[in-house]
Amino acid sequence: MKLFKNISRKSTEKDIEQKLVIPLLKSWGYQESDWQREVWLGRKRADFILCLPNQTPFQIPYLVIEVKAPRCQINNQIWQLHDYLRHSQALFGLLTNGLEFQVFYQNHQDIISLCRYNQQEFADNFQRFHIVLGRPTSIRVSQYLQKTRIAFHQQVMINLCKFFPANALTPPNPMTSNASSPTTPTSAIVTTVFNNKGGVGKTTTTINMAAALSHLGKRVLLIDIDPQANLTTGLGIDPLLDVEQQDKKDITHLLTENGVNVADTIISKRWNKIVLDIVPSHIRLSDMEATLIQGIDIDRVLAKKLSKIRANYDYIFIDPPPSFGKVNTISLMASDSVLIPTQLAPYPIRALEYVMNRIMAIRAARDGQLNVLGLAVSMYNRSATKQAYEMLQEMNRILNHHPLGAMVPVFPENTWIPQRNIVANTPGKGYPLAWAEYDSNLSTSEKEAALDAFNAYLELAKYVIQLTTP
Ligand SMILES: Nc1ncnc2c1ncn2[C@@H]1O[C@H](COP(=O)(O)OP(=O)(O)OP(=O)(O)O)[C@@H](O)[C@H]1O
Ligand SMILES: [Mg+2]
Repeated sequence: MKLFKNISRKSTEKDIEQKLVIPLLKSWGYQESDWQREVWLGRKRADFILCLPNQTPFQIPYLVIEVKAPRCQINNQIWQLHDYLRHSQALFGLLTNGLEFQVFYQNHQDIISLCRYNQQEFADNFQRFHIVLGRPTSIRVSQYLQKTRIAFHQQVMINLCKFFPANALTPPNPMTSNASSPTTPTSAIVTTVFNNKGGVGKTTTTINMAAALSHLGKRVLLIDIDPQANLTTGLGIDPLLDVEQQDKKDITHLLTENGVNVADTIISKRWNKIVLDIVPSHIRLSDMEATLIQGIDIDRVLAKKLSKIRANYDYIFIDPPPSFGKVNTISLMASDSVLIPTQLAPYPIRALEYVMNRIMAIRAARDGQLNVLGLAVSMYNRSATKQAYEMLQEMNRILNHHPLGAMVPVFPENTWIPQRNIVANTPGKGYPLAWAEYDSNLSTSEKEAALDAFNAYLELAKYVIQLTTP
């Protein structure tokens, strides 16, 4: 087996980790962000712990791995893995020195040894390990366990509310998926987060504002119509592993296949109280301009398909790419309104004229049925207020000279999103900012920065609710 060729009896523990365990985890579908290294469990540190998925505080570790050097007898180390399993409550444990592999399953407090294999036996049974310990199974198992626990806590809360009815407890939020939660007979407002200037914060605004709206109890659907798929990956969905390889549908199928409905493409993600439904994107969308142009009534395809599920949501946001004519038209034609993220900086401000021209063209094609919610400021540098106010003046000057300018308000300062590293870092971790407080890998100051920025997104969400509530 190829994995074993780089290790020998003289290899160190580090060699086994780098040359065997990490490639092994990758071959089982895991990515680096799925595992934590050197995690304290009791009085010692486990080499790897894999927790999936990370949507609730009830993180259920799936697999704990302890690695030893080949000269070390793993027999003598079993106690250590048992200890880790008990402390972490993980379901599976793997103990290896690169030559031998012992796998355990934790059945409540009872720890069962499933097998002890040498390299050859391990290679012969590789497919079994792939199925039992691989990422797709770990996701399915974790999701099932989370649902059970959530239902349990929901029931406890309902009962506690009977005993402590005053202010101490608020009845639980519906903890089911967005779309299946009891719906009020409203129709979602569909908004394209639009700016044909690249990198102004469209995707970041969409993700975190949507999370804030969900935090405030709103039902939100996000549609990633950008081939870059930044929204999809920023919310922890891998277009290849989680969509394509699972035979699921994405935005490309939704746009081009008559029989595919929005509901067929939705992936629901949960981070504690925050629930987001997402239509994922895929890089192959970038090759589809020609196909899209040939499609019959393609400009209205998304509008038509969305009309079937609008009643399930309060807000639907579409995240388009910076410049890709056809999908931008499709998005705007499906929308009731537009929200324009912008930076208070010279280039993004100069681009506003083009943004408004494009909106005007769509309004003309649709008899004016496209509202502009306004300009949401992203990446605001709080230590350069003077420059920001100069830019604000310049922005107002551009707006005053444009026929659409009067209907494009600049959002108030309390909704401006501060420029902070943590805002740029959380998409790489696959969760919205609001979830940062549960990430044990972040420092206290990073958590504080995340909270500060998320508070700005909450203000932005409240303002959007105010604007869109009759
Ligand atoms: N408040 C913020 N503080 C720091 N960095 C930010 C902030 N908002 C966005 N960024 C970073 O700025 C870059 C551009 O943001 P984003 O991807 O959201 O823009 P976009 O308009 O969607 O880009 P594109 O046009 O490529 O789709 C990203 O690297 C993002 O992480
Ligand atoms: Mg984007």
